[in-house]
Amino acid sequence: MRRKGPVVAIDGPSGSGKSTVSRNVARKLGFRYVDTGAMYRAFAVAASEEGIEAEDDETLKRFTENVEMSFDDNGHIYVDGRDYTHRIRTPLADRLSSLVSTKGFVRERLVFLQRRIGEEGCVIMEGRDIGTVVFPDADVKIFLVASQKVRAERRYRELKEKKIAQGASQEYILKGIEERDRRDTERSHSPLRRAEDAVLIDTTELSLEEVERKVMEVIRGRLKEWK
Ligand code: DC
Repeated sequence: MRRKGPVVAIDGPSGSGKSTVSRNVARKLGFRYVDTGAMYRAFAVAASEEGIEAEDDETLKRFTENVEMSFDDNGHIYVDGRDYTHRIRTPLADRLSSLVSTKGFVRERLVFLQRRIGEEGCVIMEGRDIGTVVFPDADVKIFLVASQKVRAERRYRELKEKKIAQGASQEYILKGIEERDRRDTERSHSPLRRAEDAVLIDTTELSLEEVERKVMEVIRGRLKEWK
């Protein structure tokens, strides 16, 4: 059955410019914006605050089974009714979310929640597996890439601007990105990969404005065909 509105899937590794671009494009189109990375992050931080170790599959499974997650109109993210928005952008959340997102039972629950949110349509959903697993029938699929070096520089600047982890060097951040890329692409459950029908955009040499313009072009082109 056709949805009431289109689903746009934007995938790629961390630091490829996905989040900022997806948020701005969603605002321009009047679509909802869903950051699925924020869901993995908030889930991981919530589990850790419950005292659950990322390696303790049995306890984590029980926590995962009925966990509820939602976004409000301001883009705040809630886990079981609690607001996690301001606790998910730390290097610890980077690591924990990367660890728990390798687990099939975690992905199964979060994918279920993501489909429930996206099913209404008129949504830009951003992540790693949106075009391949969550919405393989998305109306538009875009895959953003950038060199590891440039992604580490962007993340370093972002942390400085937000005054988070001031002591972290650029080399340390690059190592973290390499490690997460490895886990994202090598995991057996829904590894990061481009859907065959996704439009590839390399953002290494592009400003955010340029990426945004290209993404808008692709979406406008495809949505003309959307009925
Ligand atoms: O995009 P991000 O860095 O905020 O994502 C945080 C972690 O969640 C990252 O290690 C990859 C994982 N993730 C995932 O496995 N699938 C998604 N759809 C989104 C994020």
